[in-house]
Amino acid sequence: MDDDKRFSTNAIHSGTYQADGAVNTPVYLSSTYRLDEERYAGWAAGAQHTLLYARISSVNSEAVAKKIATLEGAEDGEIFSSGMSAISTTLMGLLSRGDHVVASPDVYGGTYGLMVEDLPRFGIEVTMADIRDPASYEAAIQPNTKMLYSESLTNPTLKVCDLEAIAEIAHRHNLISVVDNTFTSPWAIQPISIGHHLVIHSTTKYLNGHSDHIGGVVVGNKELISQIFSKKIHFGGSADPHSCFMLERGIKTLGVRMPTHASNAAELARRLSDHPLIEKVIHPSLPDHPDFDVAQRIMPKGTGMLAFVIKGDDRDAMKFMSRLSIIFEATSLGGVESLIEVPATSSHMFVPPEVRLKSGIDPGFIRLSVGLEDIDDIWSDICTALEE
Ligand SMILES: Cc1ncc(COP(=O)(O)O)c(C=O)c1O
Repeated sequence: MDDDKRFSTNAIHSGTYQADGAVNTPVYLSSTYRLDEERYAGWAAGAQHTLLYARISSVNSEAVAKKIATLEGAEDGEIFSSGMSAISTTLMGLLSRGDHVVASPDVYGGTYGLMVEDLPRFGIEVTMADIRDPASYEAAIQPNTKMLYSESLTNPTLKVCDLEAIAEIAHRHNLISVVDNTFTSPWAIQPISIGHHLVIHSTTKYLNGHSDHIGGVVVGNKELISQIFSKKIHFGGSADPHSCFMLERGIKTLGVRMPTHASNAAELARRLSDHPLIEKVIHPSLPDHPDFDVAQRIMPKGTGMLAFVIKGDDRDAMKFMSRLSIIFEATSLGGVESLIEVPATSSHMFVPPEVRLKSGIDPGFIRLSVGLEDIDDIWSDICTALEE
């Protein structure tokens, strides 16, 4: 792809289909396409990247898949209607009865549910290892292991996975390595460049960046992506053209959004660390973060995700949130607006309290997706709500 261009140039130009002199890829609201000789030939060859029918691909999904593949340094990619659709199609597409996958209890809740409730129903075994400890991933490998599954940075406790070590283990054991890179984005780390095979995103988050789209993507080498493509056709989780357009538009500014998300989060982390009503602050830029060294080595640019624990309990955390006026109380992340939640009463409500505690979600734990508002306005919103 566009190897000679830099990140922001690729974010703006790669993949974009400028038909009829339009600067943007127009929205092709067409469920089907005229069959001609070339398309019949593409169909006969497996249909991937052939404009036949919009469940297979559309002008808009092709454009944005190329853009993301370029940003992640991948050969190929497929777009989905949600992050979970990308994850389930990848796992169900590549794993068969009798196969085994190693993952971690810290992966996104929907992924965890799929792994512990659904994969076993189809005869696929899963072992949960410690995302902070690559040796535990290696120790879990069995003769039937086919895949290692990790996340660059976990939700909501912001544990950093040593992706260099996991890639090395995958190669040594000849396993497929899949990374969910949603929390960091290709601006901060490109797992394929350090040896992973597939990268997944919930494009709902940083890639779209404006909280107006639900989508997913998987990128990687041509062979694996073509296997996943054939299952996308069966499972049907394709994205509609308008949603692809919203994603493509959002990605164009990824290279300017991410530095501010990350610097706002790092600055808030520093200020919160000194606040008397705060028990603990978790951000990989803080030297007291347990994975600070790994984060500095593999993702020094950071992330806009931040977590902190207020003095008190979850009820105090809820009261604090209700007093905020700029920061928006809602689940999800990665948008231009700051979003805040208490995981124990929202995204992790159904995780048993003892499991939450074990993974580091203490009483009073708050997750903040730091937006692009002025840092001093976010800070005064937080201070006012804490001190009221
Ligand atoms: C890390 C991660 N992966 C995957 C998903 C699922 O994405 P979606 O909600 O787009 O299906 C999420 C959603 O929050 C997530 O945080």
